[in-house]
Amino acid sequence: MNLRVLERDDIDFLAECFNNMYFWGEYSNPVFEQTSKSGLMQNFDNPPNIAISIEWKKFIVQKKDGNRMGFVWHFINQPYGVMEIGCFFVPSERGKGYGAEATQLMVDYLFLSKNIGRIQACTNVRNKTAQKVLEKAGLKIEGTIRKLLFVRGAWTDYHLYSILREEWKEPKILTRTEKK
Ligand SMILES: CC(C)(COP(=O)(O)OP(=O)(O)OC[C@H]1O[C@@H](n2cnc3c(N)ncnc32)[C@H](O)[C@@H]1OP(=O)(O)O)[C@@H](O)C(=O)NCCC(=O)NCCS
Repeated sequence: MNLRVLERDDIDFLAECFNNMYFWGEYSNPVFEQTSKSGLMQNFDNPPNIAISIEWKKFIVQKKDGNRMGFVWHFINQPYGVMEIGCFFVPSERGKGYGAEATQLMVDYLFLSKNIGRIQACTNVRNKTAQKVLEKAGLKIEGTIRKLLFVRGAWTDYHLYSILREEWKEPKILTRTEKK
């Protein structure tokens, strides 16, 4: 498995995922981010200057043979400037351990490359798979944000997870290269 920054060539894959109602899983809105290919292309070339897109970076998760399986992202959640991560896989590649590995990679990468004290993630309280994946990467539940999002016709509670730099301690997958 490999993580790499989203390129312009990935827009077809992104459009396919974003417009597939099964892609978002049963705990998100089926048309959460339904967007035209030209709209995604435009966003890629000229990212909108809105708070949520500040440093919003998507990474493609692919197999060794280059086949794309999904993506992970990080963004700065305003107004406190907190690093937040998220992760989605195509339905055929779920439940094979890739989600846990990609999340751990993202946590290692962020703590190794950025001067941040915490990383957080939010998940629908009913999404036990996502919660397991976050816990495997060392994130702990902080609390419940009541009626955070309107999902599939109902206001839905979300768990807020986080990991602090001191809890992470050292990379689990990526390695640190020290200067001798
Ligand atoms: C959530 C998602 C990213 C997880 O990735 P994944 O590759 O499927 O997850 P993994 O295979 O790495 O791990 C899943 C873990 O959850 C566990 N799990 C699955 N269903 C579970 C349940 N109902 N209760 C408890 N644990 C459960 C699995 O046993 C596994 O743990 P294990 O490896 O210790 O056995 C992926 O399933 C997905 O894209 N889902 C749809 C979109 C989504 O919900 N994204 C998250 C938004 S917050």
